[in-house]
Amino acid sequence: MMKPQSGKTLSIWVDTAELPEYPPLDKDYQCEVCIVGAGITGITTAYLLAKEGKQVIIIDDGPIAGGETGRTTAHITNVIDDRYYKIEFWHGEEGARLAADSQTKAIETIEAIVEDEKIDCDFTRLNGYLIFKPDEQEDTLKEEADACRKAGIDVEIIDKAPFPSFDTGICLKFPNQAQFHILKYLAGVVKALDKLGVKIFNGSHVNSVKGGNPATVKTKDGFTIKAQDVVVATNSSISDYLATHAKQAPYRTYVIGAKIPTGSVPLGLYWDDEDPYHYIRLQKMERGDNEDKYDILIIGGEDTKAGKEEFPDERYKCLEEWAMERFPFIESIEYKWSGQVMEPMDGLSFTGKDPENEEHVYIATGDSGMGMTHATYSAILNTDLIMGRENQWAKLYDPKRKTLKAAGEFLKEGVDVAEAFISYVTPGEVDSIDEIAADDGAIVRDGLSKLAVYKDKHGAVHKFSAACTHLKCIIGWNPKEKTWECPCHGSRFDALGNVLNGPAIKNLEKVKDKD
Ligand SMILES: Cc1cc2nc3c(=O)[nH]c(=O)nc-3n(C[C@H](O)[C@H](O)[C@H](O)COP(=O)(O)OP(=O)(O)OC[C@H]3O[C@@H](n4cnc5c(N)ncnc54)[C@H](O)[C@@H]3O)c2cc1C
Ligand code: FES
Repeated sequence: MMKPQSGKTLSIWVDTAELPEYPPLDKDYQCEVCIVGAGITGITTAYLLAKEGKQVIIIDDGPIAGGETGRTTAHITNVIDDRYYKIEFWHGEEGARLAADSQTKAIETIEAIVEDEKIDCDFTRLNGYLIFKPDEQEDTLKEEADACRKAGIDVEIIDKAPFPSFDTGICLKFPNQAQFHILKYLAGVVKALDKLGVKIFNGSHVNSVKGGNPATVKTKDGFTIKAQDVVVATNSSISDYLATHAKQAPYRTYVIGAKIPTGSVPLGLYWDDEDPYHYIRLQKMERGDNEDKYDILIIGGEDTKAGKEEFPDERYKCLEEWAMERFPFIESIEYKWSGQVMEPMDGLSFTGKDPENEEHVYIATGDSGMGMTHATYSAILNTDLIMGRENQWAKLYDPKRKTLKAAGEFLKEGVDVAEAFISYVTPGEVDSIDEIAADDGAIVRDGLSKLAVYKDKHGAVHKFSAACTHLKCIIGWNPKEKTWECPCHGSRFDALGNVLNGPAIKNLEKVKDKD
């Protein structure tokens, strides 16, 4: 059975584009490169490798872009969201320069793919604006501007961002950023993959990736793909057990799409440095019998630690209030969706050889909120490694790196992991299953253990062990997406316990009623 999209809410992209679907794996295969995961990372990597003449298979247990790719806001930017002054502190001036170079190359690569494959995906070059709190944050703004210039990022300090409805105060302007409709882009790349002879299989869950000669990928249905190289592009890696997962943390981020009159907000990418922060862009719309033209103002933010938000409606409400105050001409809220991002502790993704596997397994994880560019430079880097070419970014993104200067961040997240284990001894969220409403879930204490209980729309009760199948942290219920989420390393499961996202590869353990 095909895994569903990674949550119940609907993004603007999924609502306005269609992607092809391919049948599941039906026999054993051999190929040169097997790619696990058909989000932007897997699809871009397949494209670059196929262009090199490699024979490629992509396998995914859900639809194409059914993971976080379908939930993005698709800012394409080289303005690293952790800030360049921090990247410079953690990785040195040369590290910051290489990071900037990889981000900029990623934007150029997306643009080149759009042109080469003639993809109609609203790709647009535009300015980005990073807004700091006037007075309070001016030193930080100047520090960031200096760090950007040293890293080779073009930046200008300007008096205000070009919002007509409110004065942001002094901010940074970054030319040559970009945006697109992610699913229209991927539809175009997938069309190119078909022409290049890449085989795609949907609906096939991978439960083992083992390096070697050959490397092997095994599916839950009992089929094996033997490949010279494997790229694990599952957002959160499913091939290493802890190496990268101990160095990144899962966060849930929320988005609203507000209908506004065309042209009332100038085209641009906008980010602020508030806590919680916000990210903004526009998408032009033309819909209905009268071809009604309007803009959707896409506003994201309000991030919370994964698995810990019991009241996601509150997050949407905060976003709405924040937006209405600044953009009073909002006519209606058309979209609300959320997704998960993996925050690496030292601001950079983990791309390259899997540190825990034998040879020939490559990973790309730790995207932060920068997955469009991270996916693309990861595709370039992993393609170079597979082709046996040197790549100047390889050391910077090496998944086995330890960044001592970011150790404080590692410790902070370690406290959250410890808290998830303490949950074993705390009471359940409800005292009895009777308290759970239809189509809702909760954690319930059962003697010494905890149960994850979902009551479906018909009132039938589905019980699972609340221990995540990765490393046994206690999971939490997301009432909006109807998913179980693990706060430790970001594994996610649907209401019926089927695994949606790694590092876990097994479903939640079912618990039968005692006789
Ligand atoms: C709300 C939101 C806003 C964002 N905004 C931006 C933005 O503006 N700009 C930006 O650059 N980034 C943004 N990001 C981040 C970006 O969207 C992601 O980092 C990126 O889409 C991840 O792509 P991916 O291909 O690595 O992972 P995914 O798209 O999650 O793809 C992974 C695939 O692997 C498959 N898979 C997983 N496990 C298995 C298994 N065991 N067997 C088989 N298949 C498996 C999944 O089904 C999935 O299709 C945002 C993210 C969110 C959630
Ligand atoms: S994701 Fe690691 S314990 Fe759940």
